[in-house]
Amino acid sequence: MSENKNFYITTPIYYPSGKLQLGNTFTTVLADAAARYHRLLGEDVFFLTGTDEHGEKIQKKAAATGQSEKEYLDKMAKDIKDLWSLMDISYDKFIRTTDKQHEEAVQKIFQKLLDQGDIYKGQYEGWYSVSDEEYFTESQLAEVYRDADGNMTGGKAPSGHEVEKIQEETYFFKMSKYADWLVDYYKSHPDFVQPESRMNEMLQNFILPGLEDLAVTRTSFDWGVPVPGDPKHVIYVWIDALANYITALGYGSDNDDLLQKFWPASVQLVGKEIVRFHIIYWPIMLHALGLDMPKEIIGHGWLVMKDGKMSKSKGNVIYPEDLTSRYGLDAVRYYLLRAMPFGNDGVFSPEDFVSRVNYDLANDLGNLLNRTVAMINKYEGGTVPAFTSDVTEFDSSLEELVAEQIAVYEENMQGVHTADALEAVWSIVRRANKYIDETEPWVLAKSAGENADAKEALASVMAHLAATLRVVGALLQPVMVETPKQIFEQLGLEEPESGVDLNDLSMAALPAGGTVVKKGTPIFPRLDVEEEVAFIASLVSKDTKGKGRAAKEAKKNEAQKKDNEMTEEATHKALIEYDDFDKVEILAAKITAAELLPKSKKLVKFTLDDGSEKPRQILSGIRKWYPEPEVLVGKTVAIVANMAPRKMAGELSEGMVLSAEKNGIVTVTVLPEAVEPGSGIE
Ligand code: MSP
Repeated sequence: MSENKNFYITTPIYYPSGKLQLGNTFTTVLADAAARYHRLLGEDVFFLTGTDEHGEKIQKKAAATGQSEKEYLDKMAKDIKDLWSLMDISYDKFIRTTDKQHEEAVQKIFQKLLDQGDIYKGQYEGWYSVSDEEYFTESQLAEVYRDADGNMTGGKAPSGHEVEKIQEETYFFKMSKYADWLVDYYKSHPDFVQPESRMNEMLQNFILPGLEDLAVTRTSFDWGVPVPGDPKHVIYVWIDALANYITALGYGSDNDDLLQKFWPASVQLVGKEIVRFHIIYWPIMLHALGLDMPKEIIGHGWLVMKDGKMSKSKGNVIYPEDLTSRYGLDAVRYYLLRAMPFGNDGVFSPEDFVSRVNYDLANDLGNLLNRTVAMINKYEGGTVPAFTSDVTEFDSSLEELVAEQIAVYEENMQGVHTADALEAVWSIVRRANKYIDETEPWVLAKSAGENADAKEALASVMAHLAATLRVVGALLQPVMVETPKQIFEQLGLEEPESGVDLNDLSMAALPAGGTVVKKGTPIFPRLDVEEEVAFIASLVSKDTKGKGRAAKEAKKNEAQKKDNEMTEEATHKALIEYDDFDKVEILAAKITAAELLPKSKKLVKFTLDDGSEKPRQILSGIRKWYPEPEVLVGKTVAIVANMAPRKMAGELSEGMVLSAEKNGIVTVTVLPEAVEPGSGIE
């Protein structure tokens, strides 16, 4: 059982500015699976989700529909709640940032920070994207437009949205004051952010280059929480939104019992593009308020389509309702939790969806249940025999595998690695199918009439199968909502309405004497691949408005591609033969020391272990991006090992450390820890 008997999990609060799609649904289903898992361990769980309802984008959307903000938002929030009830999301509270209690608490937070001197009034001038509700510095933009004199006239945010110049009186949050504290916090809490790489990314790109104070009010629109005593300012939507995680527990109200009980949060799930807000501004806000840090923030990847991120303009959006109505809720929940790798993007494809349903659900799991029910009917008169360990020679290896995979499952569910947890469950399912082939119950059945040993072995095989399926059903409870019940019911097991307790799950706990159903019905019918792939593909491009736009977009891309091809020769390097490449020796090397080179503004000096006896020294021009290069000590990187040595700033450099560069930001390419220094890279 986990150390902490209280478990508080949150999803981001969604912008109700459009219909939620399969990607947002993934985040919520992921949180739901974790919440259900911890409830089944007997913990007190609080699961929060909700909607982020202030800001200019929402105000513009409402205006475009001719409704008041409130009318528009009530309808949108209801649609989101309906979607969550369709997906059977077991949230404990749905917060809306327009809730009166939340708004009042946000004002109290602002006032407290102002009184403490953490917030001050100043002038802001810079680039702002309304769609992202975010300011950008010039270097953070993906594209910059300039006039003939080279002056910047506009640009595009990394999201692709246009930015506009904003000049306003604003209140600032002194983020800079807390930068050192934050760096120390990261260092002393290496597990704070998962995957760990996201923390390094923020450190390199935002914190170490100098954390800027954050503009936390706006005067250009009024759909927000007014600043107490200065109502021409509204509080920045991200400050308002982040606060939801504590106001939902009663922070700033008369009753903060929930806050006392559940804060700090156990797990906060956020998508990768909003990690920055959650691991920089949010911890600083909490620290300034004197509250503890959440235990873990998980930055998950995106569910993307074959042609990239889902977007209405591309016409490649897929909605969960369209899948659940045809394939059932559990197939969709299973797919999302199985197919999305932890922390990375996962590609949704109709083929992958259909094959998961066919192979994993219909074949592996469905057949195991069907065969088991049919055999218990045929050989045992429909009654589940008592479970005894080690009767046949194959029992102990099945029992061992089940126990081992339960442990793997537990570890992964604790870390919200659902794909790996489900892989462990399927190891059990596949092993149980193999166990049927090994034990050959049909052969045992032939001699069971006269031979007591064969009769006993046959009964034991049936009990082992039923016990394995009971364990599988129990392990699936956080992920699937109907299937576990169907498994228990078909096996004649009466399990509590609240579900099978996941503590001390074992095969031996199988209750004997249950009566299996007369005829098992397939829990997941096999799908016709061609037909269903075509059906899902048609859903993806159903959005006809999007389709028109998509066609235009495709044309634009085509033209762009041509342009690129024409300039290819100029911007890309000439093609080389393998022999040319083979001349370059790339090795893995571990950084053992890193320091700034005092005589140079650009250079960092690395000492590396390249697997040879002698330490190697390399100088790299990356000081701008790694002002504290010590953060790289202990990392294994790729180096070009056979460069002719040369002297720079009076020091010798024996090779190159390989780095990635995009939009002027340089990141050293760090290799997985398992790669040994001295390994060749080809
Ligand atoms: N309102 C802010 C969050 C404030 S939290 C204090 C917001 N809202 S959002 O509606 O744009 O996004 C909410 C979440 O949905 C984000 O975590 C985002 O990553 C997630 N997803 C949106 N599209 C997604 C995919 N295609 N795939 C996975 N998650 C996606 O940001």
